Amino acid sequence: MRLIVTGGAGFIGSAVVRLAVARGHSVLNIDALTYAACLENVASVAADPNYSFLQGDICDRAAMDRAFATHRPDAVLHLAAESHVDRSIDGPGAFINTNITGTYTLLEAARGFWTKAGRPEGFRFLHVSTDEVFGSLGPEGLFTEDTAYDPRSPYSASKAASDHLVRAWGATYGLPVLLSNCSNNYGPYHFPEKLIPVVILNALAGRPIPIYGAGENVRDWLYVEDHADALLTVLAKGQLGRSYNIGGENEVRNLDLVRRICAILDEQRPKATPYGDQISFVSDRPGHDARYAIDPSRVREELGWRPSVTLDQGLAQTVAWYLENESWWRALQNRDGVGERLGSGD
Ligand SMILES: NC(=O)c1ccc[n+]([C@@H]2O[C@H](COP(=O)([O-])OP(=O)(O)OC[C@H]3O[C@@H](n4cnc5c(N)ncnc54)[C@H](O)[C@@H]3O)[C@@H](O)[C@H]2O)c1
Repeated sequence: MRLIVTGGAGFIGSAVVRLAVARGHSVLNIDALTYAACLENVASVAADPNYSFLQGDICDRAAMDRAFATHRPDAVLHLAAESHVDRSIDGPGAFINTNITGTYTLLEAARGFWTKAGRPEGFRFLHVSTDEVFGSLGPEGLFTEDTAYDPRSPYSASKAASDHLVRAWGATYGLPVLLSNCSNNYGPYHFPEKLIPVVILNALAGRPIPIYGAGENVRDWLYVEDHADALLTVLAKGQLGRSYNIGGENEVRNLDLVRRICAILDEQRPKATPYGDQISFVSDRPGHDARYAIDPSRVREELGWRPSVTLDQGLAQTVAWYLENESWWRALQNRDGVGERLGSGD
């Protein structure tokens, strides 16, 4: 298939690009190369004849129209977004632009291309979203595809808005859309300001390992390469207009997650004192959602998808990857805001 992947120089988008090219798809990666992007994430496929790259902003309609006209995709996987909740608290404007206006612009470019091409039945627009649109759970229950939207941060509100736009373009214009809402991802190439890399890198540097609040918040973790596989599965087999919740069925409290990473580091890079001694509690993020947990029955039962690794396997692979790829993360640590406390609401 000929694919357009937006945000393919980011964390999840690059995993999708690597997997799609490995499976023989022809991929045009469109990315604006914001602070969160790194072209090294796709270096392994850069020379492949099935891969091409366009530095472009999804808010730029003319550039998107040209990209569709030249690449003539069978499908779009839309991952470009501003993605960091803490940054959305400090500066929501970029989230409104990219996540809402950008998605609108891309939908219109896709609709224009699809209409001109005679509305091919097989065309797909897969919008990649987050479980954060569903808000926060109490101690019980799971997010299903029918859970009411209740976003609580500027990030999740902007993603919720984009989900509504995608559904509206499906219902109103007949654009063949699919949606996915995924839980927290982790794995190789995770930008060093997100929780798991922060834990690994602070631990290695001998710095305090910050935990927001009491570390009681629960997240449901999914290995990024499993997410990429799930997205290609939804694209190939998903029912038109439908959304799919994707999760790893790996619920864990932040504090327990950090302790597990410290224990893995104790094994893989032992030192005189346990890494867990560096854990340090810091003031919580405002509006910090208590718990997210996904019910992935639909993607499992309808499409036959399931994750390939357990949380412990995935974490061990991730820690090993950061130990082996120091030059990758060192270069990113100089970027704006990385290593600072963001989103404290001050
Ligand atoms: N990280 C997670 O745990 C998670 C979980 C569920 C869903 N998601 C969703 O998956 C998608 C990818 O997330 P990620 O963690 O890889 O994000 P990321 O921040 O690592 O990557 C986003 C990419 O989008 C690009 N981008 C940003 N604005 C752009 C614009 N205006 N035009 C073109 N490109 C632009 C950036 O340069 C970057 O390469 C997002 O839509 C996010 O909402 C993420």
